[in-house]
Amino acid sequence: MSFIARPYIRRLLKCPDVSFFLFGPRGTGKSTWLRHILPDALYLDLLDASLFLELSRDPHRLEAMGNDLADGAWIVLDEIQKIPALLDEVHRLIESRNWRFALCGSSARKLRRGGANLLAGRAITLNMESFSAAELGKPFDLSSTLEWGLLPMVQRKPEQAPDILAAYLDTHIREEIRQEGLLRNVPPFIRCMAIAGQFNGQVVNMQNIARDAAVARSTVDTYFSIIVDTLLGHFLPSWRAGLKVREAAHPKFYWFDPGVARAAAGWLRDPVDRPWEGFSLETLVYHELRIYNEVSRKHRPVYYYRTPAGVEVDFIIETSRRNSSKVPHIVAVEVKRADKWNRAWEKPLLSLASAGGVQAKRLIGVYTGERSYRFGAVEVMPFEKFCELLHNGGLF
Ligand SMILES: Nc1ncnc2c1ncn2[C@@H]1O[C@H](COP(=O)(O)OP(=O)(O)OP(=O)(O)O)[C@@H](O)[C@H]1O
Ligand SMILES: [Mg+2]
Repeated sequence: MSFIARPYIRRLLKCPDVSFFLFGPRGTGKSTWLRHILPDALYLDLLDASLFLELSRDPHRLEAMGNDLADGAWIVLDEIQKIPALLDEVHRLIESRNWRFALCGSSARKLRRGGANLLAGRAITLNMESFSAAELGKPFDLSSTLEWGLLPMVQRKPEQAPDILAAYLDTHIREEIRQEGLLRNVPPFIRCMAIAGQFNGQVVNMQNIARDAAVARSTVDTYFSIIVDTLLGHFLPSWRAGLKVREAAHPKFYWFDPGVARAAAGWLRDPVDRPWEGFSLETLVYHELRIYNEVSRKHRPVYYYRTPAGVEVDFIIETSRRNSSKVPHIVAVEVKRADKWNRAWEKPLLSLASAGGVQAKRLIGVYTGERSYRFGAVEVMPFEKFCELLHNGGLF
């Protein structure tokens, strides 16, 4: 059972009223949240060795354990990826007993690989990320978060962040690599992770990574698919302004958390520089956008944009899609790690808005200063204010 050192921090994610899968990187607070939102559920943690043995040997015991639970009662199966075959039984019990299940694991990859029955639409999927700045409220400290990230363990003990993050990544690599049966390939995987860490928030060139890590290009693809499927990182595609644009730019790669990116880069014991903090701030903005998309169930697609002149806009959220009669509507966000806003940074936003073929609903500048401004069409605001606006549904 999780030990919570300070009062429980309320999460933005809401408990659905139907069965669900809950995925998310390790240590983001999944188990703690489940115990909190479903206090009366029958809680079965498959990390418990005797329970694991019992249910692996005989999945039918699950029904006996539920015993006389009423219609609609909740059963939590934590670490479900340890016994993917149990999902057949879950499927049966949803139908025959009308019980509801919360099925928790670090990723769908392991379940799929176990050939699991993913319940064919009988359960929705939720993703849990590290804390949101909006969940932390007043104690949120941006400058320490840019350095160490938002993992609950790290936020609870910031003074131990380097050790926690080093152990976090080490455990992760060992588990994932072992489960993938790639044990002999640990050193190249670590080299590849280090490069991906150092280039957090940038365009990834698989060919160069393969060369620098001294592995085949296809191996790099496999490594990235492990990182993405286990929700440690996300590819941010480039946005194509018009249908006529021949070729989209390569995607960017962001780690789910800036502290984990730093650990992957191997820079936990080195001071971070300003450019790195710039990418960290973008990582945090992307993180908040994913949380909002998840919590609101809006799931609006997010991109970055490179203007024909080669200037970038960090995030484009497509709030309504292009169709035959309508141009797409977007919200554009430019992120700057700077305490003073420089008006030259508005240019890419304005050139995007005036380009035609798109309707820019909001143009937002996010920075690390204290004041909010409105410069013509561009709204400039501190990161904290942006989070507040976003999670209040004020952006899209
Ligand atoms: N809402 C919260 N408030 C305060 N502390 C939290 C909260 N959520 C998580 N923590 C702390 O963070 C740590 C990790 O949380 P938890 O074990 O719930 O994560 P998890 O996502 O289930 O991880 P794993 O994938 O490894 O099972 C715990 O020690 C817990 O005390
Ligand atoms: Mg857990």
